[in-house]
Amino acid sequence: MKIAVIGAGQMGNGIAHVFAQSGHQVTLIDVNQASLDKALVTIGKNMDRQVAKGGLTEDQKKEALARIAITTELASGVREAGLVVEAATENVDLKLRIFRDMDAHAPAHCILATNTSSISITRIAAATKRPGQVIGMHFMNPVPVMKLVEVIRGYDTTDEVTRTVVELSTAIGKVPVTVNDYAGFVANRILMPMINEAIETLFQGVGGVAEIDTIMKLGMAHPMGPLQLADFIGLDTCLAILRVLHEGLGNPKYAPCPLLVQMVTAGKLGMKSGEGFYAYTAGSKDLVVAPAFRKNAPHLETAR
Ligand code: CAA
Repeated sequence: MKIAVIGAGQMGNGIAHVFAQSGHQVTLIDVNQASLDKALVTIGKNMDRQVAKGGLTEDQKKEALARIAITTELASGVREAGLVVEAATENVDLKLRIFRDMDAHAPAHCILATNTSSISITRIAAATKRPGQVIGMHFMNPVPVMKLVEVIRGYDTTDEVTRTVVELSTAIGKVPVTVNDYAGFVANRILMPMINEAIETLFQGVGGVAEIDTIMKLGMAHPMGPLQLADFIGLDTCLAILRVLHEGLGNPKYAPCPLLVQMVTAGKLGMKSGEGFYAYTAGSKDLVVAPAFRKNAPHLETAR
């Protein structure tokens, strides 16, 4: 089946990578040519890691890369697709516009999937004339490594479409888990309150950044502490998801911690901006607590 992926960012390039590696022809679509060029470089580098670890041969890498075409034209990019996976920025208006465009240009049988982390599938589906063929395919970051695909059925998603997406996810080496369409689905409904609570715990001065993360890493066997994971996901994304949970479920327990709001306002977005709870230096794997959270940090409640 021919696959189109919309959005060449972190998630989009990972999704293109795994489909191409599994033998599918992939068209990666983005409005920005530079993002497309960068995505191909990133996919090549990530495949190099797999080659170095023996998970992929150099020839398989070349073949997989050759299966990926890039374009800035959505209409021609989706024209022959059997499945389109949208992985654009988490912005409702943008996604609705993309889905209207996809609906207009993709073949009638094509399944329209979204990698949204929290926006309602039912709402997105309602922007199209084929709501039964709209579904959530929520991949986890880093896509080539993480096994899960959270498959989200919208109000109208058909059994046949769900079955096809589950089979396809399994065929590309993922483990699909099907859930229903309520705010945050399952993954983020559980993950984001934990991250928010870690930030609240820091905000109240109960523990420092390194202490909180070490407790969760060593005490609960999490590969990353919740504050490092928040930086990895992006603090703006975490905030956006918490707002969807807060608004969608109407429970004050999902209200984002003021410290998270403040950091996003200040442009401290985590890894992608170079600073969040940790400070990041290109090329270094060292985990260094950001200056704002070192001893006597003014952002913590106890310091006031
Ligand atoms: N592409 C290909 N391979 C990659 C990769 C990538 N982008 N990133 C890492 N790898 C590989 C490495 O080569 C390495 O391979 P081997 O096991 O064969 O040696 C393996 O993954 C581990 O990587 P590293 O040794 O570099 O580093 P690590 O052991 O610290 O693991 C990690 C890195 C996999 C990211 C790990 O820290 C982890 O699992 N973190 C948690 C990730 C997580 O929770 N993701 C979900 C976020 S939530 C989300 O995505 C959804 C949402 O809606 C917010």
